[in-house]
Amino acid sequence: MKDFNNKVAVITGGGSGLGKALAEAAVKRGMKVVLADVNAKALEQTLEALRAQGADVIGEVLDVTAAAAVAALAERTQQHFGPANLVFNNAGVASAGLIWESSDQDWDWLLAVNVKGVANGLRAFTPQMLAAAKGDADYQGCIVNTASLAGVLTGPAMGVYSVSKHAVMAMSECLYHDLSLLTNQVTAAVLSPSYVFVASRFVRFL
Ligand SMILES: NC(=O)c1ccc[n+]([C@@H]2O[C@H](COP(=O)([O-])OP(=O)(O)OC[C@H]3O[C@@H](n4cnc5c(N)ncnc54)[C@H](O)[C@@H]3O)[C@@H](O)[C@H]2O)c1
Repeated sequence: MKDFNNKVAVITGGGSGLGKALAEAAVKRGMKVVLADVNAKALEQTLEALRAQGADVIGEVLDVTAAAAVAALAERTQQHFGPANLVFNNAGVASAGLIWESSDQDWDWLLAVNVKGVANGLRAFTPQMLAAAKGDADYQGCIVNTASLAGVLTGPAMGVYSVSKHAVMAMSECLYHDLSLLTNQVTAAVLSPSYVFVASRFVRFL
């Protein structure tokens, strides 16, 4: 996609960190933006800051682990702005610790947010993007999942996180392959950041 002006970007985890930075970059390029975040206060502050810059942006407080809420976000996006062009499945959480000491709760939490949250995003948005492509030869869309360098390499004391991000890498590659069977108007990409310093950190130590 070369022209972003007036296109629609959806960003989960858009209230802070990389999601907020993605929102700012999208707004700078003239995109209409839909932000979703579980943290209502962070979301509101980011929406206010973007609107102060004249951005056309809406927000939804939701938990990406809730499939119905993510499906409703896709519906709201379609109703308000039309089909999404860029969907950033960016919301993610981390934990640190020895892998055999990671609790049942840690496994459930990280896999739910980092893996199922991304699956919910692609399940909710891919059909609307494929439909848009079918109806408009000029339409282009891309689903961008945030993995991590920890989705490619492994290191000490971040086992559960690394497992979850390897899953995001595999899910993104599978999405790319599956989409390429159907169309060249909708595709998938994956972000694999190394350590990025952002204003708010969400690392839960054991
Ligand atoms: N910062 C880094 O160094 C780094 C490196 C590699 C990958 N990543 C990945 O980048 C993504 C963004 O991370 P960040 O560093 O900006 O973190 P962050 O904590 O600053 O931002 C994450 C945002 O996601 C939201 N969020 C968390 N759980 C959610 C849920 N269940 N539903 C909806 N929103 C939820 C949080 O409220 C927060 O606003 C994550 O997927 C993370 O794993 C970050």
